Amino acid sequence: MKEKEEKKRICGEVIERVRPDEEERKKVKAITDLIIAKINKKASEMGIEAHAISVGSTARDTWISSKADIDIFIMFPEDMSEEDLKERGLALAKSVSDRYEERYASHPYIHAYFYDAEGGRTEHEADLVPCFSVKNASLLKSAVDRTPFHNEYIVKRISGLEDEVLLLKQFLKSLEIYGSEQRRKGFSGYLCELLILKYSSFVELLRHASKWKYGERIDTEGRGKYKGEGKDPLVVIDPVDPNRNVAAAVSLDSFCRLIDAARDFLACPDASLFSLAKKKKMSKAEFVKCIKERGTEFVMVFFEAPDVVEDILFPQLRKAEASITSLIERNGFSVYRSDVLVEGEKAFLIFDLLVWTLPRVKKHVGPPVTSKDPSEKFKSKYAFQQLFRIENGRYVVEVKRKYTDVVELLKHELRSCSLGKNVSESIDRGFEVLRNEEIKFFEGLGSFFSNYFGF
Ligand code: UTP
Ligand code: MN
Ligand code: MN
Repeated sequence: MKEKEEKKRICGEVIERVRPDEEERKKVKAITDLIIAKINKKASEMGIEAHAISVGSTARDTWISSKADIDIFIMFPEDMSEEDLKERGLALAKSVSDRYEERYASHPYIHAYFYDAEGGRTEHEADLVPCFSVKNASLLKSAVDRTPFHNEYIVKRISGLEDEVLLLKQFLKSLEIYGSEQRRKGFSGYLCELLILKYSSFVELLRHASKWKYGERIDTEGRGKYKGEGKDPLVVIDPVDPNRNVAAAVSLDSFCRLIDAARDFLACPDASLFSLAKKKKMSKAEFVKCIKERGTEFVMVFFEAPDVVEDILFPQLRKAEASITSLIERNGFSVYRSDVLVEGEKAFLIFDLLVWTLPRVKKHVGPPVTSKDPSEKFKSKYAFQQLFRIENGRYVVEVKRKYTDVVELLKHELRSCSLGKNVSESIDRGFEVLRNEEIKFFEGLGSFFSNYFGF
């Protein structure tokens, strides 16, 4: 009983902290209405058949206080061409914004800034996304066309459960697994809302999550057609599109992080699980001391971060990380752990190595002596070798290893790895490879390493 009260008390406190107050809500609603009115007015002036709607967390009262991102979708007739939608949609969005950036997710959209009505300085940020108004969510023309249906589904059902959604969002944020971006591979806002609808409360969700198994499947409407071939740790069928998994972006590690934290909270409710631990930045001296104690070798490859959106950049960096790891291991060295990082203008690939230097000699194993033809070929190929021996029925020769040091290998062979288009272009323009104490402590690296080491 005591435990239950403790959970209640902690959740109550968190809600007070993250729930937008009346004033903030009023402001957000007012600016949302204003933007919508501007768009609709402009559309009719321009003779465009389009209308704006409010979607996302600000339309559902499920945004974390002071973090309002206003999502407005501009609905165009379905029979319009993709090109027209893009051209007119973006032009319309730009024409109502005080200041804007063109951004790109699955579709181009405008990230706009608006000033206060009184000409004050407060800026409100909004995503203005053009989409097609389709008849139902499985007839979509572009990936964003589902969003108005998501909105309708949630708005109808979420009333009374907003606080539970806020608790879940804040819990996931502090675990650094909120958001479906490639960089996070976590839980989107819509997914949080569906999970709360399914389990009715944050704590009830945690109870279930603490027992989740790989491939957990949630299908509230019971109409799911999505198979996924067992590759997704979590499957949550989209109630507005039975072919889609809303949790497709959730990685195995994000899935497991929630399970683990759910067990922690249930066993020992603690308010600190709802705040990002303020980790100390590691200094260069602390870093050097730490790696000396561990005894591994740190190798860092860095270059100018290509100028593309994160959702394009991160998969390429992960791809580069994997293919460089395989280059390193093919050459006889051994990677213990690796990671990627983007800070400011630079991208970093970091390799933590168990084996980073090797002797010049390398054993090369040939065919079984009993296979006559291959044996003859092998012998003539390595005829120049003096050391020729038989081990376990096979020919063995000793050859000279081309690279005895991992940094040499990377400097010479990095470009041969498959790195992804933009990363590869950037690396072609130049890169550096540094090890241990040579590693420069760029801004952001101190926090990265303290996270990495759990410092
Ligand atoms: P958000 O990422 O803003 O999420 O997308 P949210 O539910 O409002 O949660 P928070 O509180 O801001 O974190 C809002 C909706 O808009 C769609 C998303 O799929 C989501 O349903 N969206 C947004 C797109 O489809 N494309 C975009 O470029 C932007
Ligand atoms: Mn939003
Ligand atoms: Mn948004």
